[in-house]
Amino acid sequence: MIDAIARAATVLRNGGLVAFPTETVYGLGANALDDAAIVAIYEAKGRPRINPLIVHVPDLEAARTYAVLNRWAETLAGAFWPGPLTLVLNRHRDTRLSKLVSAGLDTVAIRVPNHPVAQSLLRASGLPLAAPSANRSGHLSPTRAEHVRGSLGNRVDMVLDGGTCDVGLESTVVDLSGEEPALLRPGFLDAATLSEVLSTRVIVPDVESDAHAPRSPGRLLRHYAPRARLRLNADEPVGDNEVLLGFGTVENAHLNLSPSGNLAEAAANLFAMLHELDALGVDSIAVSPIPDRGLGEAINDRLRRGAEAR
Ligand code: TXA
Ligand code: MG
Repeated sequence: MIDAIARAATVLRNGGLVAFPTETVYGLGANALDDAAIVAIYEAKGRPRINPLIVHVPDLEAARTYAVLNRWAETLAGAFWPGPLTLVLNRHRDTRLSKLVSAGLDTVAIRVPNHPVAQSLLRASGLPLAAPSANRSGHLSPTRAEHVRGSLGNRVDMVLDGGTCDVGLESTVVDLSGEEPALLRPGFLDAATLSEVLSTRVIVPDVESDAHAPRSPGRLLRHYAPRARLRLNADEPVGDNEVLLGFGTVENAHLNLSPSGNLAEAAANLFAMLHELDALGVDSIAVSPIPDRGLGEAINDRLRRGAEAR
């Protein structure tokens, strides 16, 4: 792996694309200082250029060189970095970060991942790495190296295989650049936890109607969709061409996210099981109800977006 990381660092320094594991999902990495490399990410994913990217850095100190960390940012970073949390912050005016990572906004999303391979790659390359999830835009996020190959094929120069991602859902995204902290994407960390640590309200903006919508363009886009239709809150599979993805003690499940009803286990299994069921070629995947609390909010967020996509 040390050899592979050294090669990957060279690929990145030369403007190439390297997929690497993080604790959440696999990222499609490129040098965040290099406009051409960032364009290559958008092209490989087929991602709309209005949807900004997350910049990954090895530690808090590196984060401070690119963005303004206000008091909220220092508190959340201190509590949860390295980890599955992305902070949307004001860019330093003179930063060398490519403008393209921000898709024209004055803010940049920054994350310090907690995965040994991601950490080694960041340190070996000495670069901030822009890295969206390593899948074609709108498709399921990858939690294994083979998912990356399946979705991106040879659009990626190199894939670092670090096994299965532990968390399995993309990072929690919090916008700290406004008047109040705002949860833009639920994840492993939920609004209640963030609010408690910050001792202040964390608003959860409504995608369609509120002032935050233009500032989080990614939320408006089609996302996390398997090829098959998704039918949510289902009790059992119907007809010949539907399978059930279960949760808890249910009968007739083709696969079960967590037979014991454990939400962390369900999150870790979600994308891999959707990939697996999709590969069966069925028309529809029915999914058992998932309790809408804690990590269940993030799971239901991904499922609802996947179901709406058709
Ligand atoms: O767990 C993760 O976050 C993974 C791993 C690889 O780190 N990355 C990931 O990236 O999920 P992506 O590009 O699939 O999702 C980034 C999200 C999008 O919803 C995007 O709109 C939002 O973050 N975002 C990025 N920059 C932003 C900004 N400046 N303002 C508001 N939202 C931003
Ligand atoms: Mg994504």
